[in-house]
Amino acid sequence: MTMREIRQAYLDFFSARGHQILPSASLLPENDATTLFTGSGMQPMVPYLLGEPHPKGTRLADVQKCFRAGDIEEVGDNRHTTFFEMLGNWSLGDYFKKEQVGWMFAFLTRELNLDPARLYVTVFRGNDQVPRDEETVLLWKDAFVSAGIEAAAVDFSERDGLQGGRIFYYDEKKNWWSRSGVPSAMPVGEPGGPDTEMFWDFGPERRLHEASAFVSGPCHVNCDCGRFIEIGNNVFMQYLKTEDGFDPLPKQNVDFGGGLERLAAAVADDPDMFRIDVFDRARERIEQVTRVSYQPETFYAFRVILDHLRAATFLIADGVAPSNKDQGYYVRRLIRRAVRFGNKIGAREAFCGTIADAYIETYLDAYPELAEGRDRIVEEMTKEEAKFKASLEKGLREFEKLFSSRSAVSGVDAFNLYQSYGFPWELTEELAREKGQPVDRAVFQEEFKKHQDLSRAGSQQKFAGGLADHSEEVVRGHTATHLLHQALRTVLGAHIEQKGSNITPERLRFDFSHPQKMTDEEKARVEAIVNEQIQKDLPVHYEMLDLEEAKRRGAIGLFEDKYAALSGKLKVYFIGDEATAPSFSREVCGGPHVESTGVLGTFTIQKEEAVASGIRRIKAVLG
Ligand code: ALA
Repeated sequence: MTMREIRQAYLDFFSARGHQILPSASLLPENDATTLFTGSGMQPMVPYLLGEPHPKGTRLADVQKCFRAGDIEEVGDNRHTTFFEMLGNWSLGDYFKKEQVGWMFAFLTRELNLDPARLYVTVFRGNDQVPRDEETVLLWKDAFVSAGIEAAAVDFSERDGLQGGRIFYYDEKKNWWSRSGVPSAMPVGEPGGPDTEMFWDFGPERRLHEASAFVSGPCHVNCDCGRFIEIGNNVFMQYLKTEDGFDPLPKQNVDFGGGLERLAAAVADDPDMFRIDVFDRARERIEQVTRVSYQPETFYAFRVILDHLRAATFLIADGVAPSNKDQGYYVRRLIRRAVRFGNKIGAREAFCGTIADAYIETYLDAYPELAEGRDRIVEEMTKEEAKFKASLEKGLREFEKLFSSRSAVSGVDAFNLYQSYGFPWELTEELAREKGQPVDRAVFQEEFKKHQDLSRAGSQQKFAGGLADHSEEVVRGHTATHLLHQALRTVLGAHIEQKGSNITPERLRFDFSHPQKMTDEEKARVEAIVNEQIQKDLPVHYEMLDLEEAKRRGAIGLFEDKYAALSGKLKVYFIGDEATAPSFSREVCGGPHVESTGVLGTFTIQKEEAVASGIRRIKAVLG
């Protein structure tokens, strides 16, 4: 089966079981400041898993584009990619464990024809708050028995490995799922739950064949020795993190996610994901450009190029251009890494544009946005590749200069070359070696780590912004942001549009479109209007409206929401009492908000500044 056939088989299977099929959301999360990229199919579903009604009903399925920036360094083995497609199905308080387990077993064994004797599963062994998931074990046992297989359930043990089992109990490190991981890492207000994962057995002979990690000790399904691969995860999303533990969510939900590429590798029974059909065209082009073939000595470089340029193609299609910040920084890094590895295996001409073009051809049926963005994608790729090459040449001159003035290059110099010109360590070392000089790698690494820690701290701050937590201060800041948005429109005009927002317990930050600096007088008026609304202690409420109605009633906000496009309902927050007068603010938003504005205190603008051309930023506090 090709990737396209598997994708379709999955959607047909769930459509036949009453699911509405949703289009993939963008790789750039809409209206969600908590994360830079869409990294799982459930991300756009969070409000609905938390209890908000979904306009398309309680059974949903899709194939979602995903990007996980954290995996960039993992790429190179036979299974890791930064971009992937995730099959997803959701029950929003509709069916639960029984249906999900039965359907998954049927889908894998009957639609994809996977041999049930080579499927293994894991379940949650329980902790002091959530019980051991014996119900799911019984369901799996029934499913396996229906295929003539007695499935034994055992506790996972590091020492004993498989123990003849087929169903394994693992702890919360493996069988608990939330966007932030284990229960203790979840912020208050985050949904999560126990899960049951499914694995494909490539066969004992694959053990350590091309291992993605060094493994000692007995093999088990999660051990990464290369024998097993996880092909899907059924999360029983039924808990909400609270200050002192968990509350049940209003409804018991199912959140299934399965890597399409991994399923295709299982179907082909070939552990090398880079041999599945979607990579064929791009792989052949790399072979043409480099005149080397895809073989063990070149696996690593090919995989980096294949993965990184596919991810960059999709990211650019969704609107990110290579740059030095935020999402653009990752696109830049992906392209530059791919170029380096291309050079390593002998690419002499520019190749990023042609590889992007290969992917556009490959995916244009399933993702028409690629064809629409074709020229832009190819142009951005080509431009970035050229920029990087120019930068490397400059770096080379800088290296020569450094060397002639000091006759040695220090680890700090090497890091500066890397930092300023994208000069990879290996290159500096090689050049220095040609001149008979060593470079201190430990110093280079130390500098590198310092830099990484700094940028990590930076991005943590960014992720923690938005509405990552639903603490009282943050919710107050959120409602104040709506007041600010409307006040800006009142004072500056209707061209004001939200370009971003980030709220911490300490302050709120709001980015908006406006061509020039605000005057002191404008700032004072905005402040006064916001404070006036606070003093009136206006009630806050929301209504679910369809797109037309929301527009008619003057709601502002992100109408390009994909559900709106499907003529579904939107959640619109109103600040003010509609019964007596038009409300002060009407805005499309997922919430949460305070009940009335009186609790906001005093609103003060601390700073107004430019963040990009045509975009201003206000930082404000509530006292
Ligand atoms: N949301 C779950 C995952 O990403 C299904 O694994």
